Amino acid sequence: MAIISSKKQPQEPNGQPQKQHQDSVKASCDQELLQAEAAIDEQGKQEESIRPHRFADYIGQKDLKDVLDIAIKAAKSRSEVLDHLLLYGPPGLGKTTMAMILASEMGVNYKITSAPALERPRDIVGLLVNLKPGDILFVDEIHRLSRMTEEILYPAMEDYRLDITIGKGSSARIRSLPLSKFTLVGATTRVGALTSPLRDRFGLVQKLRFYEVDELSKIVLRTAQLLQTPITENGATEIAKRSRGTPRIANRLLKRVRDYAEVKNSGEINEGVAGEALQLFQVDPCGLDWTDRKMLSVIIEQFNGGPVGLETIAAATGEDTQTIEEVYEPYLMQIGYLSRTPRGRTATTAAYKHLGFKPPNEQMSLL
Ligand code: ADE
Repeated sequence: MAIISSKKQPQEPNGQPQKQHQDSVKASCDQELLQAEAAIDEQGKQEESIRPHRFADYIGQKDLKDVLDIAIKAAKSRSEVLDHLLLYGPPGLGKTTMAMILASEMGVNYKITSAPALERPRDIVGLLVNLKPGDILFVDEIHRLSRMTEEILYPAMEDYRLDITIGKGSSARIRSLPLSKFTLVGATTRVGALTSPLRDRFGLVQKLRFYEVDELSKIVLRTAQLLQTPITENGATEIAKRSRGTPRIANRLLKRVRDYAEVKNSGEINEGVAGEALQLFQVDPCGLDWTDRKMLSVIIEQFNGGPVGLETIAAATGEDTQTIEEVYEPYLMQIGYLSRTPRGRTATTAAYKHLGFKPPNEQMSLL
């Protein structure tokens, strides 16, 4: 199944895409797309309703927005398509949202897919030949593309050309088909895992960074307003502080705290209610959950602070190594609780203090 989601911008009478955004997702009559749409669950729909649709509504990532704003204005003034864009960073920071906003700001259609859905060459071929001029093709987890799919993408990205091999062995011939000029937006949590020929074909390579507490607080207030949930500024800040710099987590915690406030209180979220609810859900004041704490306590208690290998940490927490590397470690390193060394992971003094252990240097001075 190649397409996960697609959206057409409304057409003006002359057939050009209209810039103005519309909320409804128009499905193509393509059978695969119908199947994919049927699979979109309730949670996905809710996420859709709170997603910002324009730069003006998108909070945070100022540097990235500035870069993209210039690229959009320049492309528009030259009536060209936007350069291919690679977005990288930890999960939940808004890579998909950014691609949708780009389409909206450019007034073009988009198609969203992910590398694991492009297993067979014909999946990517089907997508490419159906692109209209200016369309945005968003490929999530782009580091997971198969080699054959990647090789189809090279001439498509560089010259908007599809090279198809017809026949086999010595009688094989390459036929080239022109494609519409399009923009590929690739997203990855592991930029280092991309092959260099693929990485080099992106004109823009941009990192999404973790959000500050004040930015997350604004996001929580905005989402609460969309969900018609009463919340105080301090309540929003309490949720923001425990959201690991990540809007997806902030919005998820907001929904859990909303449930708690409705069941246990008047329904309004304030600092106290948010604190109580998040304690119940085992999200500590720094936003660490059970797995984060387990990772750090294993390193501290069983390995004297490390270094410890990734596999050992994965076994101790029951998570796979990829999840540890892509989901847990980036934030623990960002807040200075974990460091990666060539010999393994080590817990920092700040991590010892956070978990209530005596840091090794203080233990030495007691002797
Ligand atoms: N919801 C999720 N991410 C957001 C962002 N960056 N700005 C506004 N609302 C959001």
